Amino acid sequence: MEEATDPLVDAFTTSFPVDRRLYAQDIAGSIAHCRMLAKQKIISTADRDRIVGGLQAIEKEFASDRFRELPSDEDVHMAIERRLIEKVGPVGGKLHTARSRNDQVALDLRLYMRDVVDELCDRIVALQQALAELARAHAGVIMPGYTHLQPAQPVLFGHHLLAYIEMLDRDEARLKDCRTRINVLPLGAGALAGTTFSIDRAMVARELGFDGVTENSLDTVSDRDFALEFLGAGSILAMHLSRLADEIVLWASPHFGFIELPDAFATGSSMMPQKKNPDVAELVRGKTGRVYGSLMALLTTLKGLPLAYNRDLQEDKAPLFDAVDTLLASLAVMAAMVPRLRVRADRMREAADAGYTLATELADYLATRGVPFRDAHGVVGAVVRKAIADGRSLTTLTLDELRAFSDAFEEDVLEWLTAEAAVGRRSAPGGTAPANVRRRLRRKKLNP
Ligand code: ARG
Repeated sequence: MEEATDPLVDAFTTSFPVDRRLYAQDIAGSIAHCRMLAKQKIISTADRDRIVGGLQAIEKEFASDRFRELPSDEDVHMAIERRLIEKVGPVGGKLHTARSRNDQVALDLRLYMRDVVDELCDRIVALQQALAELARAHAGVIMPGYTHLQPAQPVLFGHHLLAYIEMLDRDEARLKDCRTRINVLPLGAGALAGTTFSIDRAMVARELGFDGVTENSLDTVSDRDFALEFLGAGSILAMHLSRLADEIVLWASPHFGFIELPDAFATGSSMMPQKKNPDVAELVRGKTGRVYGSLMALLTTLKGLPLAYNRDLQEDKAPLFDAVDTLLASLAVMAAMVPRLRVRADRMREAADAGYTLATELADYLATRGVPFRDAHGVVGAVVRKAIADGRSLTTLTLDELRAFSDAFEEDVLEWLTAEAAVGRRSAPGGTAPANVRRRLRRKKLNP
């Protein structure tokens, strides 16, 4: 090309401000590549040592924020190569032998994503431990379980928290599964067709801790499935965090009053002095949209791209990094906030006892006495309607009053009708019985 690019084009096409985040991965990948080139006698060991020394010095420049980019640096890869040649001379230009930025950028991204997945999994476990800690601190606390946000049946607060621990188990498993497809070496695909040099891809893979090498050079430089999978798993994780955040918002509302937020995790209103707002939980809920947006952005970018590399692919990084930052921050703030929630056991219990949440117990009782459940359901429906009309709770009904609806009611029905008994009877696997909850909380993972 004879003419220098227009400054407008430089500004429009540069990815350096976004992909500078990959400098450490870029340098680690380059060092492994360079060592392989020397071992394969593609470059000399003297050249290798100068290049590796230069790359290590550049890494220090980045780490101490002394790296100076130029407007002509198209991306982090070109910036580092330009600087390498400045530092070690023309020999620096040998580093790019048997390599293209197309396989290089795929490598950098895979190295980065691998670390991100590990960090996210650590933070997922930390949040699970925080939830478990809260559950253990309030063992035995009973709250209403809901369907349709209507009080349905009493459950242990710990059982409710464990539901989120289960969701987070699946999130961790999905991320770990996605990591197996991240952790494959793309370097060696060249620009798109492979390379004519006698490279040793297995050696580079070993040096960088990859489980294997990719099989098709065209696929390798155009594939971003691993990033999509990550964003898919990340979107589900964000959705789970959002649901937990939403319950925290509800519970902190005075209408529920199930929890009080620690001052350090709440904000006041600039105008209404009585307010204590759950902004942290609201923002965790709100930021979910950004993560979904990243998934949609990348899916849309990839749709319709012909093989192999296209510059469109550069648009993968901004949404991906934004999703990564959002997920890491949301997990960290939730894990810090959860153990500090003040649980109002009295309010939960009051709500669990209100709202006829023991109606199912009465029906179950009749069923154990041989009344077909469908009929029992009808009988108890009549009991509840009468109790509502009289403004009474089920637990204040006498045996005689109950027997007016069915003579299958006996003396022991009154013991059935407590929230403790209702919770305790649900001991089939997966139910809210205290023994089940204790067993799930005893897992090693939840007890650091
Ligand atoms: N900045 C580019 C990206 O992020 C690197 C690869 C550029 N390759 C090319 N042939 N222009 O995708």
